[in-house]
This record gives sequence, structure tokens and C-alpha cells, in this order.
Amino acid sequence: MVDELMPKVTFLPVNKTVEAEEGQSLLDVAMDNDIRLEHNCGGNCACSTCHVIVKDGMEKLSRKTEEEQDELEEAEGLAPTSRLGCQSKIYGDIIVEIPPYRSSLLNEDVTKIEALIKEKEKALNLSRSNPASQPSQTEGKTE
Ligand code: FES
Repeated sequence: MVDELMPKVTFLPVNKTVEAEEGQSLLDVAMDNDIRLEHNCGGNCACSTCHVIVKDGMEKLSRKTEEEQDELEEAEGLAPTSRLGCQSKIYGDIIVEIPPYRSSLLNEDVTKIEALIKEKEKALNLSRSNPASQPSQTEGKTE
């Protein structure tokens, strides 16, 4: 059931809209809803990997602090409405975009992971159908 009073956050480009607690950070909302938003410093305003671009509802977020602004200047693809997901508290409906360069990195990561999974599944199927062909301990490791 959708709660009319809870703020809604739409994440682009995945185009997923989720509910948030008032005062919750964008990063926490993303994490709670399995939306991948990098956060290398663990949400401590020390890495800028949680960079998002606000598309609508900038006034519905907490004010940007000097500390956030300083860290944000390190972010790739900085825009006038850029914010750090870990520092932005939500107080109304908003739309944010995870910058395209991060999305393309994610797509590359997913493609590599899918290829590795297929490789492992193939190896497992081979070893099940022929126990003598089980991969050795070193097989599959890359140098
Ligand atoms: S998670 Fe590092 S600055 Fe937000």
C-alpha cells in the first residue's frame, strides 16, 4: 500500500520510485531498495562516489553544508544540482539521477559478472556430468 504522506524518491536512469522516511538520506533510501549507489566511504562525506544529480525537488532536500560542497567538487560530472546521496536528507518528493558514467560502469560490471557466472555454471555442469573432469584448484584463476 502506498502511503500518501511519505516522500517519494525516483531514481533515474533505472526509473524506480520508492518511499522514504522523512529525514532519511538518499543513500539510505537507495540501499534499502536495492538501488546501487556507490558509497566508498560508508556515507561519511569523504569520497563523493554517492554523487547524484537532482532533476526535480532540490528544495525538498536538506541544505548543502560546506563540507558536502568541498567533497562534491571532487565528483565526476558535476552539475549545478549535484548532491552527495549520503548528505542529502529527504523532506518531500524528488527525482534524482545517478550520473550516466556510473550507470555505464555498472553495466560493464554486470556484463563481466554475468560472463563469470556463465563460465562457472558451465564448469559445474561439466564436472557433474563427468566427475573425472572436475576443474583443478588453480583453474579459473587469473594472473
Ligand atoms: S558515501 Fe562517500 S561521500 Fe557519500
